[in-house]
Amino acid sequence: MSKETQTSAVVNSNPLNFLKTKERVAALLQAYLEQSKKGTTVVLDQQQPQQIAKALELKTLFKNGFQDIDRLERFVATYLTHTNHLSNPRYMGHQVAVPQDLSGIPDWIHGTINNPSSLYEMGPAGATLEGFMINWMLSKLGWFKGDDLYDFSKHPHNGSGVLTHGGSIANLTALTAARAALAPEAWTEGNPNDLVVLGPATAHYSIARALSVMGLGKNAFVPVAVDANEVLITAQLETVYKEVKKKNKRVMAVVANACATSSGLFDPIDQMADFCEKHGLWFHVDGAHGAVALLSEKEKIKVKGIERAHSVIWDAHKMLQVPALCTAVLFKNQEHQWNNFRQKGSYVFHENEVIGIDSMPYTIECTKSALGTKLFWSFALKGEQAMVGFIENSFEKTRQLYAYLSSLEDFFCPYLPDSNILCFQFRPDRLNDQDQLALRYELINSGAFYITSCEFKGKRFLRTVLMNPDTDQQDFEALAQAISKIGNQLQLSKK
Ligand SMILES: Cc1ncc(COP(=O)(O)O)c(C=O)c1O
Repeated sequence: MSKETQTSAVVNSNPLNFLKTKERVAALLQAYLEQSKKGTTVVLDQQQPQQIAKALELKTLFKNGFQDIDRLERFVATYLTHTNHLSNPRYMGHQVAVPQDLSGIPDWIHGTINNPSSLYEMGPAGATLEGFMINWMLSKLGWFKGDDLYDFSKHPHNGSGVLTHGGSIANLTALTAARAALAPEAWTEGNPNDLVVLGPATAHYSIARALSVMGLGKNAFVPVAVDANEVLITAQLETVYKEVKKKNKRVMAVVANACATSSGLFDPIDQMADFCEKHGLWFHVDGAHGAVALLSEKEKIKVKGIERAHSVIWDAHKMLQVPALCTAVLFKNQEHQWNNFRQKGSYVFHENEVIGIDSMPYTIECTKSALGTKLFWSFALKGEQAMVGFIENSFEKTRQLYAYLSSLEDFFCPYLPDSNILCFQFRPDRLNDQDQLALRYELINSGAFYITSCEFKGKRFLRTVLMNPDTDQQDFEALAQAISKIGNQLQLSKK
């Protein structure tokens, strides 16, 4: 048998023929995207899990398998009806990327070949793409000292970084590096009991969670007062610093929001960097959502001083249109990354013989997905400049939404947005926190829109995150109308 015939025999021996199955699934996905984009399907139709399990015939399929392509197709079609349609322009919900149409291809390739990218020899192409994208991200921060982005050597004074599965793990990775810098003995001896982290009370919960996971306890996070818009007050840093010093505590890191999860507003990074330099403290910027401002000449002022940080995290599955998950943890000083985890695994870490780049010694994960491939692909689908355009557009549209809602009597927007996140309330003088929540549930249960809600300044707000490039003024007007209608009914029902 020739090699070619052998290959097609393998591919065709399964009732679920490789190409035909992919074609049928691709056709379903194409129709899904078309309908979602046109808004001919609801954004979300949330059913109870029992109903979904029944509709998908999970028990039967689990036992007997798909058996044939029609069955598989039916399963995928049913599955797709029970999803949140992010490609519908009226999806304005969480900080989760609305992928480009072909963003899923790297996941498909990875799922077919399964080359985890943490060990170079298990996936040289994926590991190379990760190295390339890390070089690119470092270069945006001014932390890359190589000749060009193909330079993977460890130059003196170089920065370094790794991709991880999500911002929460990335924050944990950065904070363990901060601990290793201040208290290297903690790795073997356990934590000293005098370490604290300072940051805005509005820091993402993954910061406090990381401290608990690290065994420091969540109380090791000492909140610094924020202003009327929940942005850290730099002068308060000095006050809190003096207080913790009085208690004989050592500051392991100072954390900045870039930007805050609820409001989308940025902390004063440059001023915080001044403070950290003055006291010789580790400065960590949580740029999970907003580090992308770096890419825009117009918006980069918001992250002024970010290059003065010791560590930065940056989620690509938020504003870089990468399907979840993919986050970079970046260090200005490569040695901070090398000194972070001090474990040896004889079956994987044998430094002297290694070709290429192994990220495994520097991550919490042992095995990890081909994250660099997804990240690179997102840019390769349209080019770097178009990505910058997408980011600028999303920020600009949010200012437009702010201006529009502020022009309506019944809506209250507390601040001019810094990013693509906006909080607002409907008739806050008449509808209380519970009503704002009820309003949101009613809105999303109608299937017409998907928005979120959050607490801001101790009050319940509605919240939009504009991640979909197709959302426009018409959608804003329809949103305001839908909210007004539900809000009116709610108000009437209270009388
Ligand atoms: C500021 C900030 N940090 C960290 C995270 C956590 O990121 P992930 O959801 O990727 O774990 C988020 C998520 O929204 C965030 O907004």
